Amino acid sequence: MNDYKNSFPLLQRELDGQPITYLDSASTTPKPKVVIDAVTRYYTEMGANVHRGVHPLGEASTAAYERARYSVAALIGALPSEIVFTRNATESFNLVAQGLALSLDDEVVFPASEHHSNYMPWRQVAKPVLVDIDDETVPRYSQLKERITKRTKLVTLAHVSNVNGVIAPVEEWVETAHAAGVPVMIDASQSVSHLPIDVKKIGCDFLAFSSHKLFGPSGVGILYVRRERFDSLKLYNVGGGMVAYNSEDRFEAREAPFRYEAGTPNIEGAIGLGAAIEMVRSIGMDKIAAHSRALGEMLVRELKPLSGARVLGASVAPERRVALCTLSLPVPSMTQANIARLLADSHAILVSGGFHCAHVLHHRAQLDGTLRASAHLFNDEADIERLASALRDLV
Ligand SMILES: Cc1ncc(COP(=O)(O)O)c(C=O)c1O
Repeated sequence: MNDYKNSFPLLQRELDGQPITYLDSASTTPKPKVVIDAVTRYYTEMGANVHRGVHPLGEASTAAYERARYSVAALIGALPSEIVFTRNATESFNLVAQGLALSLDDEVVFPASEHHSNYMPWRQVAKPVLVDIDDETVPRYSQLKERITKRTKLVTLAHVSNVNGVIAPVEEWVETAHAAGVPVMIDASQSVSHLPIDVKKIGCDFLAFSSHKLFGPSGVGILYVRRERFDSLKLYNVGGGMVAYNSEDRFEAREAPFRYEAGTPNIEGAIGLGAAIEMVRSIGMDKIAAHSRALGEMLVRELKPLSGARVLGASVAPERRVALCTLSLPVPSMTQANIARLLADSHAILVSGGFHCAHVLHHRAQLDGTLRASAHLFNDEADIERLASALRDLV
């Protein structure tokens, strides 16, 4: 058994007497004890609001919350003042979509494979212009140049697809978009816990992810904004906590990032995220990335030979994939979601089944749902063998 498994209380539980095999980290990661303890410590030792209290508990809460912002910044090579706490990645996209003050004939370019969270917010405020995907659902990255027009106001894409697990050439996209004067937003939801990320190296203008896919609590999201870009972002949410001055005829917002954090934030969640980040940094993102690549390669190797299986992105080299493998498996009178349920009920193997918030990808690939197995640092080869063996029996 992988040593890291012991750090996650959830992974110790059983379903109907069988130990669980958790292969659903792309949906959300289990939380290690250090994160659970950090959340508990906030409630038992601090428990006060942030940026408001003048007493010692308020000071302790504020210090712990701001320390978490430092941890996030250190993880992705940003400045703490470039990190906005939101509710989730979805809210980070909405904040930028609303903040850029787009009009419905402005264009936002992104691949047809994007998650709904990096699709719907643009659809509400502008015209989506899609980069096509190939038969394996991988974006035709070279199309970007021809999709950019005078009306393009933003280019956005997932660093790693939540459906095919392929790592996108984000630096090349930033270069192409910037050459045309267009800013770029990166969806790091599926990459931030698998790969080292340096926003300055990528050169992106905005980047979003959720704490809960990085071993942290749910209800916390991150929006990185390159410092100069704050000027182009209108206020999204207003209220307490973001005001520097308010009178009946004039109001002044606090400086960024606080001006985008109206209302009491998810303090315990941010502190828990800080603990999660300290954990992954102490393991080392390079080590995690190598493990992810190896498990990704094994997933494809084991699942591709299943009779009738269509594995998405299977022909992409292992160094361009993470530990995520999505396939459709023909089993008479069963949907892909039925198969996922059967794996859980009969084998305590937990995977995703359905459309993974990517309907357009599935329509374009003519897939009526898919089965997704996603592994992480606590998984090992035995977990993948268990999954492959259960699916072999089924087909
Ligand atoms: C690639 C990608 N983007 C965005 C999201 C949205 O994350 P959240 O629901 O935490 O806002 C997800 C979550 O599944 C995702 O996989």
